Amino acid sequence: MHGPHGIRINAWFRIPGAMRTTSESYKQRAGRLSLDGIEFDDFKDCPLAPEALRSLRYMHDVEHHTVCYLRDLLLTPAHRDPDITSFLACWVFEEMWHGEAIGQVLEAHGEQAGAPRIATLRRKRRRKEAISTFTTIGSAAFAGSAFTALHMAWGAINEWTTQAGYARLSDKAGHPTLRELLKRIMKQEGGHIDFYASEATRRLSESPRAQRLTRFALKHLWRPVGSGVMPQEEVGFLVKYLFAGDEGHQFTSRIDRRVDRLPGQAHLHLLDTAVSRLSGLEVAA
Ligand SMILES: [Fe+2]
Ligand SMILES: [Fe+2]
Repeated sequence: MHGPHGIRINAWFRIPGAMRTTSESYKQRAGRLSLDGIEFDDFKDCPLAPEALRSLRYMHDVEHHTVCYLRDLLLTPAHRDPDITSFLACWVFEEMWHGEAIGQVLEAHGEQAGAPRIATLRRKRRRKEAISTFTTIGSAAFAGSAFTALHMAWGAINEWTTQAGYARLSDKAGHPTLRELLKRIMKQEGGHIDFYASEATRRLSESPRAQRLTRFALKHLWRPVGSGVMPQEEVGFLVKYLFAGDEGHQFTSRIDRRVDRLPGQAHLHLLDTAVSRLSGLEVAA
């Protein structure tokens, strides 16, 4: 894409030093979520409402599923790009600790979390897992390098949604200890957003084919984070609890506007459509 004087609009992405900035700076900052000062016993004295706990079970399972998602991604051309693999290595580590931290909240409520819960979930998903792996390999073989642009755009949308979900849960739950924990998690999700969104923008702006492929995949295949992992009724509950209504809508329309700004992805209305569909409301034509 060229500007009025033939200067590449996204030129800064191409400068090797600048290119490194996103992944290098993330790599330096990445790390295990700090739980200093978080008193999990607070939840024993002042437990969360059932809806907030149900949301956290979902978030726990999905954060812990990241490593399975990564397994599929490494079977695609993404594994050839060292900037991407460095990012993914740190990203999966951070997401695992998000799952562990949320697990501590569940445990404080007397619930099972961590390895036993995850092992049960994975046993139930063995067939689905195999299908998702073959689907990813098949689509990546068809799309070639354009798949990486799609992967980055998909990742950006999922991270935007995840961060918004934590922000909404923090507000709805109204629990100071949870608020502090989620604030720290959201900060790390922000680092993930920076990487995925900048990579998606750069890769999409360089390739009309990647734009078309990404648009097609998002339009026909995108579902809210966790849809492939969690039962449909849990996806419906979470989406409705966090994003239905005026306040939720402010978050989803902000994400849709961000998607609009990704090259070639305007007016997809992914979030608003998903919320309308999953909340059982009429979808505007
Ligand atoms: Fe996370
Ligand atoms: Fe994340």
